[in-house]
Amino acid sequence: MTREEIREITILPGKNRQGKEEFFDEITIRPGDTLSIVGPTGSGKSAFINDIEIFANRDTITGRTILVNGSLPPEAFVRDPAAKPVALITQNTRCLCDLSVSDFLRMHLSSRGCMNESCIQDTILLANQFTGEPITGTVRMTSLSGGQTRSLMVADAILISNTPIILLDEVENAGIFKEKVIQVLRQHHKALLFVTHDPLVSLLSDRRIVMQDGAVSRVIVPDGAEEKAIRQMISVETMIGQLREMIRAGEMITAPLPVSL
Ligand SMILES: Nc1ncnc2c1ncn2[C@@H]1O[C@H](COP(=O)(O)OP(=O)(O)OP(=O)(O)O)[C@@H](O)[C@H]1O
Ligand SMILES: [Mg+2]
Repeated sequence: MTREEIREITILPGKNRQGKEEFFDEITIRPGDTLSIVGPTGSGKSAFINDIEIFANRDTITGRTILVNGSLPPEAFVRDPAAKPVALITQNTRCLCDLSVSDFLRMHLSSRGCMNESCIQDTILLANQFTGEPITGTVRMTSLSGGQTRSLMVADAILISNTPIILLDEVENAGIFKEKVIQVLRQHHKALLFVTHDPLVSLLSDRRIVMQDGAVSRVIVPDGAEEKAIRQMISVETMIGQLREMIRAGEMITAPLPVSL
């Protein structure tokens, strides 16, 4: 099986921190799906996406099993970085590589046997859609900010690694435009799972996986009942965005805020 042939990933239940069986049957993810993982600190969100990243086979603390197209995945998916169909981007993703952005991307492209130079510029342009601080090809990887690094890694995962599954672990504090990331990944028909504390971004996903005590406690599939809340959240976000820009520009906020929704 090659990663282009991935039609679905299935998560089979494991156990919570007390050793009790998780009570979902299975969770299936297909290309184009967006799932948010929510829950309190320490509830097992990172453990859940790490299980997917390493294709757990009852060999992690959670006891979950990950299937690809209904069977255990080939060994290469787990061991060979070039064959791995999953990219995990965490808050701590840093790049300790003393190359310029262009040279780094070129090296990655050639390691995948592709020498399409235009892909380098496309990756930088895509990364710049995710971050407020533009990246240029000449800047060194080590001098990128946290948000720039994560944005570049997401763009690289989409265009160069071209992995069908992308996992994001709490990257919102890195100042990355997550709504834009979701939109682009949907367009590229990627499966996206992200851990988030951002209410609007959670509401915008196709499914919400709620974690508690190391286990999935609920899978919420929106049925339209949250549409009004989403519209209200968008206007709140717009207002907060405007305030943020005013504060960044050194202005004072003296007018009353339009708090009624
Ligand atoms: N099902 C489980 N059984 C036993 N231990 C678990 C289970 N799930 C997670 N853990 C452990 O619980 C701890 C917290 O889990 P994790 O780091 O995944 O939480 P989190 O929700 O990502 O927290 P944070 O919001 O702080 O990032 C970890 O040490 C993890 O290994
Ligand atoms: Mg975590």
